[in-house]
Amino acid sequence: MDHFEYRNGILHCESVDLVDLAGRHGTPLYVYSRQTILDHYGRLATAFAEVDPWLCFSIKSCGNLSILKLLRQQGCAFDVVSGGEVRRALEAGADPARIVFAGVGKSDEEINHALDVGVGYFNVESEAEMDNLASRAAAAGKTASAALRVNPDVDPKTHVYTTTGKRETKFGVDVERARNVFKTFHGRKGLNLDAIHLHIGSPVNDVSAYVESITKGLRLIDDLRGDGYTIRSLNIGGGYGADYETDQAPPAMQYAGAIVPLLRGHDLKILLEPGRTIMGNAGVLLCRTLYTKASGDKQFVIVDGSMTELIRPCLYGAFHFVWPVAPAGGLVPPQRSATLRLDGTRLVDVVGPVCESSDFLARERYLPPMERGDLLCVFTAGAYGMVMASQYNSRPRPAEVLIEGSAARVIRRRETYDDLVEAERLD
Ligand code: LLP
Repeated sequence: MDHFEYRNGILHCESVDLVDLAGRHGTPLYVYSRQTILDHYGRLATAFAEVDPWLCFSIKSCGNLSILKLLRQQGCAFDVVSGGEVRRALEAGADPARIVFAGVGKSDEEINHALDVGVGYFNVESEAEMDNLASRAAAAGKTASAALRVNPDVDPKTHVYTTTGKRETKFGVDVERARNVFKTFHGRKGLNLDAIHLHIGSPVNDVSAYVESITKGLRLIDDLRGDGYTIRSLNIGGGYGADYETDQAPPAMQYAGAIVPLLRGHDLKILLEPGRTIMGNAGVLLCRTLYTKASGDKQFVIVDGSMTELIRPCLYGAFHFVWPVAPAGGLVPPQRSATLRLDGTRLVDVVGPVCESSDFLARERYLPPMERGDLLCVFTAGAYGMVMASQYNSRPRPAEVLIEGSAARVIRRRETYDDLVEAERLD
């Protein structure tokens, strides 16, 4: 699952004692395990090796430059969704030809810049965008490689906000319209439309949803080839799960076991866009208890981390396992589970300092007794954690530290009050 483990009653990341680390770097603090990143990347690469795919790491899940560099060194390509993410990929040393650019609303500036730097593939989400891309590329004397994002109308059985492959969502073009898009744009100056892109949602722990969407995608590719079009690649998207609870997500081999047989013999370059499955378990958020208080029947643990560091509980009602870094009475959790209830624990809500009732990190959990000063770990926070952090309530964003064995390296410094006001000091 990951390299965050209790040793002698204290949580460690690889060989680093997290009580010491929090003492040195302060809280709230994001901590990443290099080995966990490599393990998850390696498992995915091995599981899908037969189809020799491009693994395009989805930068939106975790954009820190040091982590992008680490992944690039492993051979990763990148999935981006904005000009800012193109910048991050390039700054991390990515080969622009191995960047794929998705998103329903690419601006003219973003398209021009991506053409300029030579982004490998545009995942195009509408006829209007295809038209704009073709015109801009032709005007610049370039040819853009394009994949048509198809909406397969498959239910990934995940949160409604992160469901993207259902017809009623804004993403992609209906399968029925796809053939027409090829008819309209085939041979258009500035455009080389020769690929299909699918992405049904995130996280998708139901492997059969991929089977359904890829089967529809392959049927479409057969039809398009029958119509005389050349289709070179199929991007099957991201969405592979992470263990928010122990053994919650299917292992990479299980996804591949169902997906790879479908892809055999189709003569397609296969692309994947994993984010969460690589980074989710590779990061935690450390917080320190500021106060505890009772209110009516409820017990609150008020920590210095909040919805501004990790918005997932507030936004999606997402579950993150939380546990003290050095639990009282040596009460170490035997597994990470939403229903864990050990003797000696008590029912609490873990909340942050932000002025909203939606500012909680964990609700109705049985935790060991916690006191002012005690550290709490929020697990599986490596994906969609820091990237979604805000400065709401004028809270500087936290630092990020990458652990390698017994070494800890700051990979993003903690923001300061100066950072909060810098862009507004205009006179
Ligand atoms: N490809 C495309 C086109 C995507 O839109 C996404 C995620 C991915 C790949 C990567 O998905 P992953 O492998 O990381 O599941 N903020 C939400 C997740 C939003 C996902 C958006 N798209 C959360 O915290 O759960």
